[in-house]
Amino acid sequence: MKRIALLGATGSIGRQALEIIGSDPELELVAAASGSRSIDGVAPLTQVGGDMTELLDRAKPDLVLNAVVGFAGLPATLWALERGVDLALANKESLVAAGDLATAAWRRGGGRLLPVDSEHSAALQCLEGRTPEMVHSLVLTASGGPFRRRGRDELANVTPTEALAHPTWNMGPKITVDSATLANKGLELIEAHFLFGLDYDRIEVVIHPTSTVHALVRFRDGASLAHLGYPDMRVPISFALTFPERAPAPIPPLDLASGLTLEFEAPDLETFPLLALARRAGEEGGTYPCAFNAANEVAVEAFLAGRLSFLAIAETVEETLASVDGKPASELTELIEADAEARRLAQRTATTA
Ligand SMILES: NC(=O)c1ccc[n+]([C@@H]2O[C@H](COP(=O)([O-])OP(=O)(O)OC[C@H]3O[C@@H](n4cnc5c(N)ncnc54)[C@H](OP(=O)(O)O)[C@@H]3O)[C@@H](O)[C@H]2O)c1
Repeated sequence: MKRIALLGATGSIGRQALEIIGSDPELELVAAASGSRSIDGVAPLTQVGGDMTELLDRAKPDLVLNAVVGFAGLPATLWALERGVDLALANKESLVAAGDLATAAWRRGGGRLLPVDSEHSAALQCLEGRTPEMVHSLVLTASGGPFRRRGRDELANVTPTEALAHPTWNMGPKITVDSATLANKGLELIEAHFLFGLDYDRIEVVIHPTSTVHALVRFRDGASLAHLGYPDMRVPISFALTFPERAPAPIPPLDLASGLTLEFEAPDLETFPLLALARRAGEEGGTYPCAFNAANEVAVEAFLAGRLSFLAIAETVEETLASVDGKPASELTELIEADAEARRLAQRTATTA
């Protein structure tokens, strides 16, 4: 039996994880947490809001599935990494914001870090058993979101409802908006850098509208390995929860005879500047990725509340990145201060935009 603590149990990932855990007799849910919605009776130990690490201390799980959205997931990520407790990580924001501190804690703790993001789960499977020097480059795919092939002038007045209509994935509101702006792929680029230890110039992003290929790794001998599957988050959730068993999941196998076509195109970095901004923040390092994430969280919240236009999300992030010093954080308190400062700057920019 693997004893699991599920954080973010009421969300899109959380609900799908409950389905996977409920259908696998080898998985036992020992604790569950949410931010504000009730989860009475979901697990023997439950907690709504507050410090999730207290719940983890009491539950002593074998594996933590962190499916909280945003920077709020950071304490739980560090809790698991530091103690060598296996971590199934959907909460990419924590790894992006605290990449250096989190990877240092991971090294000290020595547990498994299993990405739940479908692209990173796919990349991990393509990379398994290979050494970094064998890898030429990693390719992350992006659906392109609902506004693919639109120009900037066509995006000026798009509404939250339009941004929330994702073509291939059904997800929580924050990541759906991030997919529409391509900020999500920017966060994933930084996430991949920290997970796999690859330099940014060896990580490429391509648009792949059907989300069938989740990632592809090119090797130095000219071979490439790709991971294919229907866009269904239960696959990477199940992979992370049951690793290394690869337990059965209720997903049909890929049907190649049903007219499957694989199309790829380059991302439009001018219309969707957040991808390039994330790359730059990642390359500059220090607390720039933390500031990128913080400003994006503030801007997406303002957009969803109708206080900010779609195009102003990227402008808010760009202005915030131009105003912070990006100084590396040697400890958690410094990182929390960098996050708070970026949020203050982003709020100010978003209010005047
Ligand atoms: N959805 C996907 O398909 C998908 C795919 C790849 C990666 N991810 C990543 O997975 C994470 C979750 O995404 P999602 O789409 O599942 O989001 P979601 O549907 O909005 O759910 C977010 C969850 O986080 C909880 N939460 C929010 N703030 C919290 C806090 N301060 N303390 C404790 N819990 C808090 C929410 O609780 P309440 O409901 O009580 O507010 C909810 O359970 C994100 O980092 C996202 O980028 C998601």
